[in-house]
Amino acid sequence: MSFAAVDIIRTKRDKGVLSDAQIDWVVDAYTRGVVADEQMSALAMAILLNGMTPGEIARWTAAMIASGERLDLSKVGRPTVDKHSTGGVGDKITLPLTPLVAALGAAVPQLSGRGLGHTGGTLDKLEAIPGFGTKLTNEQFTEQLRTVGAAICAAGEGLAPADRKLYALRDVTGTVEAIPLIASSIMSKKIAEGTGALVLDVKFGSGAFMRDVADARELARTMVELGKAHGVTTVALLTDMDVPLGRAVGHSVEVEESLEVLAGGGPADVVELTLALAREMLDAAGLRDADPQAALADGRAMDAWRAMVRAQGGDPEAPLPVAGEVEQITADRDGYLAGLDAYAVGVAAWRLGAGRARKEDPVSASAGIILHRKPGAAVRAGDVIMELRAEDAARLPAALEVARGAVMIADAPPGPRKLILDRIS
Ligand code: URA
Repeated sequence: MSFAAVDIIRTKRDKGVLSDAQIDWVVDAYTRGVVADEQMSALAMAILLNGMTPGEIARWTAAMIASGERLDLSKVGRPTVDKHSTGGVGDKITLPLTPLVAALGAAVPQLSGRGLGHTGGTLDKLEAIPGFGTKLTNEQFTEQLRTVGAAICAAGEGLAPADRKLYALRDVTGTVEAIPLIASSIMSKKIAEGTGALVLDVKFGSGAFMRDVADARELARTMVELGKAHGVTTVALLTDMDVPLGRAVGHSVEVEESLEVLAGGGPADVVELTLALAREMLDAAGLRDADPQAALADGRAMDAWRAMVRAQGGDPEAPLPVAGEVEQITADRDGYLAGLDAYAVGVAAWRLGAGRARKEDPVSASAGIILHRKPGAAVRAGDVIMELRAEDAARLPAALEVARGAVMIADAPPGPRKLILDRIS
């Protein structure tokens, strides 16, 4: 069946409900280049402004999955379970979590992305490891899941091509923030990747994509429903992203911190979230007796990490790059560190060279920030709050300016923060 794109745009513009046939046609016709970019941008804006019904979102997601291949992971021989985070500052959880869950008997098919704007991307972090390759064929991906249980790589061209094209368009037309489009974009890729179960880490707060907790909750609910409708066991945790996760923000510095977690140490918040997500993943995979804390403490998770890095061409023993240009930010008075704004820290790391403005830009593997104090800490004037690292000294002044604005010092300590606010299933 064929439609006129302009009628579909008018229907959504006038707050109408698109039929299944209209959705199937417009997603397919856009992927084939029959519907033009300007028409799809008008439709995306109408969706952003007027929303979609649950039925429309489910059909849109199905059409995006149908635009490409769906991987068959049945040969892996272990239960498959993946994790997706909506992105944050210092969010390196995928790095320790993937080998940890693999060490306990599941297979984790992690198709990850690169950073854009102030949030970091898992592939950029892993590429800080000398030799690590992020491109695997479908056969290599499946075989690594069978033998190692963990693989973290870029999604192949054949997976949800409609999303690839639409996401690039949304990025330049101010339509990224539409919940139906975010949910269908994320879930179409995760469902097409063939995972049996999925745990979502939906973040809210200044450093997150969704600043508002109500929006994050709606996104989480929408994605959980989409997963279930497609036969993927899906749960979501709602987690706080007002403050960066852990003490490291950047690529090589976040790999270093992940290694600390895999060695049984690491910052308390990173360990808490890694263990909470691991428990959810193991539960969803039917491995309820597995003990992730023990696997971090006794080296099994580290062994799985080394096996994964080697399988992808990396050298787990090689030294990581270190940036030579360093500046510190110190407390200007006595008091308590009351806040450390995640967005400002993310922008500062981006200005140091860790982020990119356009998706084809290179990133600096060693640029980043080390947080010496986290909110709640008592500070004296002159104490180091954070350390900024860059390869190029010219990047420091602009980063320092925004990073200084992240620091809030008060006379009294802040109230307790809850890292994990809710669970949605
Ligand atoms: N990540 C995605 O994959 N898609 C979106 O729309 C937003 C974030």
